[in-house]
Amino acid sequence: MSQKGGRLIVISNRIPTDETPSGGLVVALHEALTERGGIWIGSSGGPQEAPREGLTQIASGAYSRYAFDLSHADYEQYYLGYANSVLWPLFHRRADLINVQPGMVEGYMAVNERLAKMVAEIAQPGDLIWVHDYHFLPLAAALRALGVDNRVGFFLHIPFPTASDVPALPQADDMLDWVAAYDVFGMQTETDVQRLDALAARVEGKVNNGRAFPIGIDPVGYRDAAIASAAGDNMALSLGQKLIIGVDRLDYSKGLVHRFEGFGAYLAQRQDSDPKATLLQIAPPSRENVDAYQDIRAHLESTAGALNGEYAELDWTPIRYIRRNVARERLAGVMRRADVGLVTPLADGMNLVAKEFVAAQDPDDPGVLILSSFAGAAEQMQDALIVNPYDATEMGDAIQKALSMSLDERKARHAALLDGVQTQDIHWWTQSCLDALAGERVWLRPLATWARTLSAL
Ligand code: G6P
Repeated sequence: MSQKGGRLIVISNRIPTDETPSGGLVVALHEALTERGGIWIGSSGGPQEAPREGLTQIASGAYSRYAFDLSHADYEQYYLGYANSVLWPLFHRRADLINVQPGMVEGYMAVNERLAKMVAEIAQPGDLIWVHDYHFLPLAAALRALGVDNRVGFFLHIPFPTASDVPALPQADDMLDWVAAYDVFGMQTETDVQRLDALAARVEGKVNNGRAFPIGIDPVGYRDAAIASAAGDNMALSLGQKLIIGVDRLDYSKGLVHRFEGFGAYLAQRQDSDPKATLLQIAPPSRENVDAYQDIRAHLESTAGALNGEYAELDWTPIRYIRRNVARERLAGVMRRADVGLVTPLADGMNLVAKEFVAAQDPDDPGVLILSSFAGAAEQMQDALIVNPYDATEMGDAIQKALSMSLDERKARHAALLDGVQTQDIHWWTQSCLDALAGERVWLRPLATWARTLSAL
C-alpha cells in the first residue's frame, strides 16, 4: 500500500462519543476519517474503576473509534497531573503555577508508552498517524522505539513555550527528542514555530520539522446555525442596550478577571448618555480537580460582584456571568446578536471563539471583535481591535471605541476578517495538515473558489 493510500489513524485525548459529532475540529476529523477511512483513538474519559486492557471499539462505520481506559492513578498522574498541572501552565506562560508531584512524569510516560504499543499493533504500512495535543508529546518517540516507521504527525493546539520557560519542565532535555520523532510538528502560529526553532538552535538545530497551520472553523455552518438560532431566540435586552459577549472555559489562561477589570475601566469612563452595555460572560468550570483552577471562580465572582455593586442601576446589570454550558447552536445566535466580541486571553493557542464571532455576524450590521495580542488568532486577525489584556485602560478604551464605531468601519473590518476566516477554514486546515503529513506540497484553496464561497454568503 502506498503512503498516500493508507488509512488515517487519529489520536486525541478526547474522542466524540455521539454518532455525528458537532463542533469544528471534531467535525473536520470526522470528515477526514470518513473520506479516507481509518481509526480514531482516544481515552474513554474519566478514571475507570476496572480499567480494561487494550482498546475497546466504541463506534464503527466509514471508520472506527476506539477508546483506551485510564485507571485512577493514570487519571491523576497523566491527565490531572503532568498534562494539566505541568505542561498546560508551562505552555501558557504560567510556570509559577506548575505543580510537579512524584509519579506524574512516570504516569505520563507510562500512558504514552502503553498507547504506543496499542497503536503499533494496529498500524499497517502506509497508514498516516496523526497525534493531537500536549497529552501525547512523547508518543512518536515511543512508537519509533517499537520500530514503527510510518509517517507520524503532531498538532499542538496550545502555544509552544518559550526557550526560557522550557527548562522549568522536569525532563526538559527530552522535549526536543519528543518533537524530533515526528515527521511534521504542526503548531498554530509562526510565533510558535519561531519558539521551537529558538529552542532547537540551542542544540544546533537537530529539529526542523515545525510548521504553522492556523486552525480554522466551518464559517458557513456556524453562520447558518447563528441565523437559525438568533431568529428563534427572544433573549431579553432592553431597548438601547448593547451586548458584549465573552465565551471561555473557566481557565486562568483566559484572563477573565483582567477582562472584567477592562470592562470596569470602560464603565468608569462611561457617560450617562452612553448606551448601557452588558457584558454577558459564559464560562463553564473546567478541570476543577486541578489545584490551580480552584480559586478562579471565587476571584471572578467577587470581581463581577464588586463591579455590579458599583455600577448597576434598576434597569441594568453590567455583568451577567453564566457558569452553565450553553448549547453550541444557541450560543451561535447570541453571538450574532452581540455588538462586541471580547476575546482577551493572556495566552491561547488560537482561540476559535474569535473566528466564530466573526462568522456569526450579519455582514450588513456587524459587531466588533476585540482581540488579545496573546491569542494565536491575532496573527491572522489584525483587523480586530487588538489589545494588551494586561492593560485595563487600553481594554476600556477599545470597548468604548467598539461601541461607538461607525457602520462603515465596522463593515470594513468585518469584511476583511470574514475573508480570512473563510479562506483558512477548517477544511483548508485539515487538508494542509494531511498533505504535509503525507509529504506533499501544502494545498491552498485557489482564489476563484474562495470568491465563490464569498458570494454564496
Ligand atoms: C484545550 C485543549 C484540548 C482540550 C480542551 C478542553 O482546547 O487544547 O486538548 O480537550 O482544552 O480541556 P479538557 O481538559 O476538558 O479536555
